[in-house]
This record gives sequence, structure tokens and C-alpha cells, in this order.
Amino acid sequence: MKTIKIFDTTLRDGEQSPGASMNIEEKVKIALQLERLGVDIIEAGFAAASPGDFEAISKIAKRVTKSRVCSLARAVDNDIIQAAEAIKEAKYQRIHTFIATSPIHMENKLKMSEDEVVERAVKAVKLARSYCEDVEFSCEDAGRSEIPFLKRIMDAVIEAGATTINLPDTVGYRMPHEIAAMIKELSEHAGERAIISVHNHNDLGLAVANSLAAVENGAMQVECTINGLGERAGNAALEEIVMTLKTRADIYGEYETNINTKEIYPSSRLVSSITGIVPQPNKAIVGKNAFAHESGIHQDGVLKCQETYEIMSAADIGMEKNSIVLGKHSGKHAFKDKLQKLGYELSESELLDAFEKFKVLADSKKEVFDDDIRALLNSQVNFEPVYELESMQLSDCSSAMATAAVALRKEGETIRAAQIGNGTIDAVFKTIDEAAGYKGTLKDYQVQAVSQGKDALAKVVVQVIFDDDKPAVIGRGLDLDTMKASAEAYVNALNSYLSMKDSLKQQLRLGEEDKI
Ligand code: KIV
Ligand code: ZN
Repeated sequence: MKTIKIFDTTLRDGEQSPGASMNIEEKVKIALQLERLGVDIIEAGFAAASPGDFEAISKIAKRVTKSRVCSLARAVDNDIIQAAEAIKEAKYQRIHTFIATSPIHMENKLKMSEDEVVERAVKAVKLARSYCEDVEFSCEDAGRSEIPFLKRIMDAVIEAGATTINLPDTVGYRMPHEIAAMIKELSEHAGERAIISVHNHNDLGLAVANSLAAVENGAMQVECTINGLGERAGNAALEEIVMTLKTRADIYGEYETNINTKEIYPSSRLVSSITGIVPQPNKAIVGKNAFAHESGIHQDGVLKCQETYEIMSAADIGMEKNSIVLGKHSGKHAFKDKLQKLGYELSESELLDAFEKFKVLADSKKEVFDDDIRALLNSQVNFEPVYELESMQLSDCSSAMATAAVALRKEGETIRAAQIGNGTIDAVFKTIDEAAGYKGTLKDYQVQAVSQGKDALAKVVVQVIFDDDKPAVIGRGLDLDTMKASAEAYVNALNSYLSMKDSLKQQLRLGEEDKI
């Protein structure tokens, strides 16, 4: 069997999805879930990008012990030094450095000759190797690079110490047969000297097909993300690659991965609840409808024999269908047991906090599903909130004179405010701004039912900018009442902003000569 290494870049390329920024504790939570999932390498971030990224990578490096922890670094000294420093406490480490190799990037972006690019790449790899034995080098925009130049730079960086060569289709331009030909030629050229990796973007919807074509032709590492998150149209989706290799063992029987597929669904839910980016309902493998059968003929077929309309089972990816879990009489032990089955490991105080929330929920909701429990757990905040929503009253909800009165709690004091808004949501958010003394701009608002039934929990995700110089923060709220969930989400966004405003601020400034 050939073991294909799964390199997950949800925390780096995935975080480059517009609106997907995560705070440090959220990144640690995702990294620990990726480790449970069994990914070989976790690209935890881009250490030199910001102090927040650096701190997240360092924390992940300290906590993750099974997967290799990697930081991205441009081919500049400062980036590599920061990457090395950030991963230094990881049990297994990798530095991933890159420079563009396509004519269009070298001429227009880098304004560097081929010789200069090779020289810069070699210098970067040598410096990275002085810190770390495992060094990946990426030829950015390899998909549009010339094969002879790729061979030249590959030879030079392998000689300098690179152990993995990644060939990204950075702009998602290539077709499967083109990727197949490129990988075949370059993996034969590398031979035993380095592992060949692929990193495909999904601009034409071909990222997964291209990754599989690469595997068939010698790539031994695939870079991908949970739910296919990533720049623009995203990256190849981890769950689709892994489940294709498994489900089509008749074709891919000689390949295996270290992924525990039962952790796919929990990973997908965790990432979507943290980023607020929910996979489309018909998304392969992890979409809400991926295992739902609507037509009577299909339902009848599946009841008689599951394989009539299902090529894999929901249980294989850890999606238990419609499982009612606990009720209001369930005790702490049963709750803890359920959490363990769902893959959550909580400290005693986190468990108590979650149990209290569960009791409140079970009191007002007849049936509590696995997804309700996940939503409850995934919405737990991991910072001390400055503001708490104490109470809220609404009137004239449907008019342009909708009125909200809100009481917020801060350091034991109650602050009250009332505002008129253009609709209820506007009134509620304006009132929270007034009470807290901030002015947020709402960039996105999403509401979703967590499970089924009229009494389903409403999950609201907002993206808010509290300071024009800083990116939007995400806030989440969960309640049976949609308006209350909305207010909770907005307060959560404000607390999140206050907890990370210093690390949100700066992009590290690099010297002029480092601007590549
Ligand atoms: O798409 C890309 O080329 C990248 C590299 C930095 C690996 O993300
Ligand atoms: Zn990328």
C-alpha cells in the first residue's frame, strides 16, 4: 500500500477565505480536531503575517503531538526565522517556503529573473534547513510554470535540502489530464530525492479531480482543506479526496490515508461553526443533503437495500442520522458520555458550563439531537466576555419604527439602552452599540436551523467590523428565539473583537527588499 500524506491547510489557505478569520483559541480547537481526524501535516498558519498568526502556531505546536505542525514562510529570511520560532516546540515540525515560478508572476509580481528566483529559493531552503529537517518548497503557480524551469528549480532546492516539493495550481486553471502529465513528468524527475505534493485551487471546480489525477501519477502528498475552504473558490476538499480514495477502492486500492473517516463530519461542523461558512446543502460528503433521500422511490429503495441509492454510509463519515440523544432528565454522566462519543474532551469546568447550557436547552426543546449538542459545544467561547446580554425587549417589530430595549452586563453593572431601527435586527444591533459605546458595521448575517422540527435551535452568525482598520470579526448566537440568538451573536462579535483587537491589528512590516 502507498500511504498518501494528507496536508491540511484549513488554518492557513482556508483562513484566506474572505470572512473566515478565526481567533487563536478557535485555531487551537480546529488543530486538535485535525489531529483526531488523522491528518499528517497541519499547516497552522503563516507566522510572519501577524502576531496573532504567530501565537496561534506556537500554541498549536505545543498542543499537537501526533501530526506534523507547519508554518508557511515566503522565501525571505524574516519569514523563515519567524516560522522556525513559531513551530520550535512541536514534536514534529515543518517549514514550508515558497516563491512564484511562472513567467507571469516572475515578470509582473516579483520583477525577478529566473536566476534570481532560483538563488532566492535556494537561500530560503538552506536557511529553513538550518532550523528544521523537514522543509517543503512550493513553486507558486506551478500550474502555469514552464516544465524545464520547474525541473531546474526543483533540482536546486532539493540539493539545498528541500524534502517535499509542492506543485500548486494556484489559480485553478489546469484540467485533470494536464495535472496528470505535469505530475508524472516531475515525479519521475524527482525520483526518490523528494516527495511530490499537489495543492489545487477550485476556480473551475476541478480541484479534487486534479488532486486525484496527481495521486494516480506519483504525488504522495495532497494539500487540502476541510469543506474546501480557501482563497477565492477554495482548495480541494479533504473529505472528497479521502472518501473517493476509500469508496473507489476498486480503482485506488493501492492507496491509503491515515484519516479516520468517522471524524470527517465532526471536523466539518466544527470548521463551519467557527468560520460561519456553512457548506452548501448539496455539497458532496458533508452537505446537509448529502445523505438525504427526498423522492419516494429513493426512500423506498434505501429502506429495502441501502446500496440502491447510497455509495457510502453516513456512519462512515461520523454523521449519525436523526439520533435523539438526551432529554431533560439526563444526568451529567450520560451527557459526558455523549460528549466523549462525539469526540469532545472537556475540562471539569467546561463540562459544568456545557451541562448547564444543555439543561436550559433540554427544558425548552423536546428532542435534543447530536447536532444540537455540537452547536452548543462549538458555540462555547474561550475568552472572558466583557459584555453579557442580560435582557431584551422588542416592540413594533415589523415597522420602520421597530424599537429595541437592551440591558447589557459589564463587570457587575447593568447598562441599559433603547433605539429605533429600520426593522428589528437594525434596532437590536444599534441598541447594543449604544449600550457598549461602539459602532459596528454589519457585513454579513446568517440564520440557520441547527436540527429539524419547529422548535429547532436558531444559529445566527454575524460578521461585524468595529474598526475600519481591522478585519471583520465573527459572532455566533444560539437560541430557540431567532432575535435573541441575533443579539447574542452581535454581543459575541463585540466580545471577540475586544479579546483580539491587539492581535488583529498589524500585518508585520517587512523590509523593502523582503517584499516578494
Ligand atoms: O496556492 C498556492 O500557490 C499557495 C502556496 C503558498 C502553496 O497557497
Ligand atoms: Zn493556495
